[in-house]
Amino acid sequence: MTGWKIIDRAKDAKGQFAIEPQDAHDSCGFFAFANGASFRPMTLGDLDEVMAIERASFAYPWSSRFFLQEFQVECARSILVEIDGKIIGYVLFWLLPEGVDIHNLAVRSEYRRRGIGRTLLEQVILEALRRSSVRVTLEVRKSNLAAQKLYESAGFVATGIRRAYYSDDGEDALTMALDLAPSAQR
Ligand SMILES: CC(C)(COP(=O)(O)OP(=O)(O)OC[C@H]1O[C@@H](n2cnc3c(N)ncnc32)[C@H](O)[C@@H]1OP(=O)(O)O)[C@@H](O)C(=O)NCCC(=O)NCCS
Repeated sequence: MTGWKIIDRAKDAKGQFAIEPQDAHDSCGFFAFANGASFRPMTLGDLDEVMAIERASFAYPWSSRFFLQEFQVECARSILVEIDGKIIGYVLFWLLPEGVDIHNLAVRSEYRRRGIGRTLLEQVILEALRRSSVRVTLEVRKSNLAAQKLYESAGFVATGIRRAYYSDDGEDALTMALDLAPSAQR
């Protein structure tokens, strides 16, 4: 990933984002799904499908109650990606004064390694840039090397460890951050 110099991204007639990452031209995975993919916020009606992905993706998945709570949080935002009307991934994040904090990200297992996780991340980063946020942050399980690789591939760097961060099994979290340079927001 070469950085986040923002490029024009118009919404299409349905108000969906037509995504074209700056480095899409060397991302075969992106082109493998971009044409049929659309993005929109998560709604209550998506919860059953989202929960199926969530349960299949995590040893300690969020409960549906947790998702419902998230819907109540004023600064919480979500982005779903669909292909042919089927939800294949989602990301949830908070818009905070100090930056954007990612809380959950998952891609349906049979659609992984096609650039979808990275594209969801790009959506979050675009939102951060639109809001002139200077930082995107997240926590990831120390053992979740696949997710760490994804974040690193998007330019995130490790910033620290939160000991026993996860209350379910006491695993440590690695904190990661992406600093959005002012020059990237032109
Ligand atoms: C982590 C996750 C979201 C990645 O989604 P994805 O759509 O497969 O990711 P992408 O295809 O966009 O991968 C982009 C890059 O991330 C890295 N990456 C992603 N998955 C990887 C894996 N299993 N092993 C190593 N690197 C991986 C690679 O660098 C990859 O680029 P490449 O395919 O060109 O090598 C997905 O594996 C998932 O849903 N996992 C379970 C839930 C989870 O762990 N969420 C993160 C919580 S912090």
